[in-house]
Amino acid sequence: MNTLLDRKRQYEADCEAAIKSGRKKEAIIAAARAAELAFKLAEKTEGTVSQRYIEDAEGWLEIGERIKAKGFDQVRGKRQEAKGASDLKPKTSNLKPEEAEGPEESEWLVGEKPNMTFDKICGMVEAKQAIMEMVVYPLMQPEKSEALGLNPGGGVLLYGPPGNGKTLLGKAIAGELDCPFFYASGASIRSKWHGESEQRLSKLLKSAQACDVAVLFLDEVEGLLPKRGGSSQVDNRIVTQFLADVGGFEESRNTLLILGATNKPWDIDEAVFRTGRFDEKIYICPPDEPARTGILAMELAGVSYDEALRVDEWAARLDGFSGSDIVGIMKSAKRISLGRAIREDSDAVLTVNDIEAALKKIPSSITEKMLKEYARFQEQRFN
Ligand SMILES: Nc1ncnc2c1ncn2[C@@H]1O[C@H](COP(=O)(O)OP(=O)(O)O)[C@@H](O)[C@H]1O
Ligand SMILES: [Mg+2]
Repeated sequence: MNTLLDRKRQYEADCEAAIKSGRKKEAIIAAARAAELAFKLAEKTEGTVSQRYIEDAEGWLEIGERIKAKGFDQVRGKRQEAKGASDLKPKTSNLKPEEAEGPEESEWLVGEKPNMTFDKICGMVEAKQAIMEMVVYPLMQPEKSEALGLNPGGGVLLYGPPGNGKTLLGKAIAGELDCPFFYASGASIRSKWHGESEQRLSKLLKSAQACDVAVLFLDEVEGLLPKRGGSSQVDNRIVTQFLADVGGFEESRNTLLILGATNKPWDIDEAVFRTGRFDEKIYICPPDEPARTGILAMELAGVSYDEALRVDEWAARLDGFSGSDIVGIMKSAKRISLGRAIREDSDAVLTVNDIEAALKKIPSSITEKMLKEYARFQEQRFN
């Protein structure tokens, strides 16, 4: 595996090559990635080394913004300046490259396009349709939306009980759209960056703004933008900063789509809803029967199972379970089946009894009380 530093250098080289051959979008994305890796390196290092990585990262963000605003000519000079800074290696002799390795890549993705598409998500027919109309079509065909006076971009909040495909849907949207996808999870920003969360979120918003079109997915957004007014200074600062940054975007020309996902929409600061961001809200409910059938079929694809195991019966039995409960039950059943096949030295075949046994271990994670809370939230907030 490459070290962070190697990867950062690769993006720098990619950016330079893209600038040379006039590929603007790729140059902006590569600059954003170089910046992000520089931030990661800053986090892994200390003192002046860390400080220099931060300056380096800021240099790359600036390069991205310049490419976007002014084209390439003004950037080339700046690139030379930045190169001196970006060539820095960790100066402390006791720091090995592998110590700069970042394991939590998935928590802080910049501009990556996830390998997920709508057809891998079962059910959710209405939510997918709404997303296509609100988000995907306007961004795919901006001229046509403009002709109809529709403004692409904006914000959508996906909310509902955990494990029913909100994150999956966010990733599929990016997979469907040919544009950079910025992903941040509230919990990881908060826990990783402590007192600096608001600056980090702000930087992320700015990287997204450097692209002509971008999707910013804020997962677990209630952890990022919680109600202000409490004793937490960080909470107050981060929400205020977010509102200020988003206010700035309203005037900018780029198309930024902000998607938020949350299990606890009632914990989000109300001013966030008033910005015009998250003006659309989609409830992501537990899978209905066709969706449960689809999830089961996906889990059974290529699996040898007993003919007494009927997908339609199990789809009916698993009413009230979340999508991730169902996936978990099937995984557990397969392990039970494997254990038996090994013990008995027999063929591995999944049976009804294996699923029954797994079901005893994995109860539904969704309660009536939970569903009522969402219903109450819908009534109070949106009507
Ligand atoms: N509609 C669905 N179709 C396919 N898989 C699903 C669906 N809903 C949930 N899952 C499964 O559950 C897992 C968790 O879903 P996730 O998107 O993380 O839920 P959420 O973000 O709503 O908590 C997914 O990785 C997938 O395996
Ligand atoms: Mg999620």
